[in-house]
Amino acid sequence: MGCSPRVIFQNIPDPLIKSVSDYVSSPIGVGILGLGTVGQGVVRILADSAEMLERRIGRPVKVVATAVRDLDKKRDYLPAGVVLTTDPMEVLTNPEVDVVFEAMGGIEPAKSLILKALRLGKHVVTANKALLADHGTEIFEAAREAERAVCFEAAVAGGIPIIQALNVGLAANRILSISAILNGTCNFIMTAMTRDGKAYGDVLKEAQRLGFAEADPTMDVDGTDTAHKLAVLVQIAFNQTVGTDQISRRGIDRLEAADIRFAGELGYVIKLLAKARWRAEGLELRVSPTLVPKGSQLAEISDSYNAVRVEGDAVGDTLFAGRGAGMMPTASAMVSDLIGISIEPKARIRASAELWKSSGGTTPLIGVDEHKTRAYLRFQIPDRPGQLAYLAQILGDNGISIASVIQHEPEAQTGTEVAFVSLIIMTHMATSGAMRRALEQIRKTCELRGEPIILEVDGRTGQPN
Ligand code: NAP
Ligand code: HSE
Repeated sequence: MGCSPRVIFQNIPDPLIKSVSDYVSSPIGVGILGLGTVGQGVVRILADSAEMLERRIGRPVKVVATAVRDLDKKRDYLPAGVVLTTDPMEVLTNPEVDVVFEAMGGIEPAKSLILKALRLGKHVVTANKALLADHGTEIFEAAREAERAVCFEAAVAGGIPIIQALNVGLAANRILSISAILNGTCNFIMTAMTRDGKAYGDVLKEAQRLGFAEADPTMDVDGTDTAHKLAVLVQIAFNQTVGTDQISRRGIDRLEAADIRFAGELGYVIKLLAKARWRAEGLELRVSPTLVPKGSQLAEISDSYNAVRVEGDAVGDTLFAGRGAGMMPTASAMVSDLIGISIEPKARIRASAELWKSSGGTTPLIGVDEHKTRAYLRFQIPDRPGQLAYLAQILGDNGISIASVIQHEPEAQTGTEVAFVSLIIMTHMATSGAMRRALEQIRKTCELRGEPIILEVDGRTGQPN
């Protein structure tokens, strides 16, 4: 005989269960803060898939109230009768609202509103990785006190259910490493520049038009958004609270087309990768443009797609891929959280209570100089005898071994001035500190045109560096 849901949910102090007799018929009330790209996607799924959701949850879902900045903007998919206000408190204090979706973005007023929603006894679903990364401790402390859930599947890798995968699917594992493409805008830009030879600025504008980019796209292209998402993943995978400023990061904003070309010649594509690796000494965390071997799984992730490679001690290597940004993938993740909160409130409250605890993990972070990586180096050097040998000597003196070298013949010269040529050196694994010291010495003692370029290189073996 099947269990009655009344029995399962009895005695759970949860606003979703108003009373046992209400259970079957009363709708779950949803309030939405922000009806931009993501908020409108949520409304659209709730309207288009109402019947299916009711079947899956066992109760209808009703959008009760929404808040925006500008009442005159056109809002697609908003059903008639829904409150539309510029005062978010009207949403939070509406007694019919059980679950608040925060899809406004930014730190304030989003943070204060989430805290208020929790204190008012509402569950919260958010896509706001910037807020979680740097204010997770305060938010989850409030969730613990209020005994409510804060769910954030949409905050990392858009539509890919990576939070559920880490929390549940891979829960039997000690996570050893994560290597991920986490920013749809950057991947969209890198794909268009590499595959179609398009200009950086044009593709960034296209990403903004398609709704992938953040309100301030600097956060996408300088690696900050990826670092926010990595901080969230590290919390779940390693039970470790790290602030964004503790993650060494570089973006794609200063990448040159020449490096995309040379990487291609060497058999690589460049991706903005987030990496977290557990070593006996501690955790290694970074975000950087990285050469990834053509044909490897991560190299094949194109356009706004994201991918997360997770290595667990029991399962080995796993790869999760899907659309990482945009209206519907992000809304898909937020609505999945609503379903989760509705059908397993106790589990979601308990999971939230375990996150961003002051008594969480205490694994030390490994300093940047001790990070280990292979590197791509590019120098503009004079085409004179002994130059290559001199550079190789400095690398060798710093314990850096060369894996391969390319240098093209200079363009035909007309004048007497010495030609400068690009010299590309691929190294074997070395510490970032050794690379930094070698580059300092090269800068000081070599005649170079421009700054030397250094990029990380992912292992050819499919193993993380
Ligand atoms: P968006 O298009 O700029 O929408 C933001 C919405 O919030 C707008 O409707 C805006 O109102 C409203 N809003 C902002 N400040 C407000 C305030 N003080 N009071 C009331 N309403 C306010 O942003 P989005 O792209 O949907 O992103 C929302 C969140 O989702 C961000 O945290 C973002 O990082 C995250 N996210 C986005 C994506 C994506 O692909 N776009 C993917 C994953 C996560 P108006 O419309 O009146 O201006
Ligand atoms: N701006 C983000 C991106 C949205 O491009 O990936 C998804 O978090």
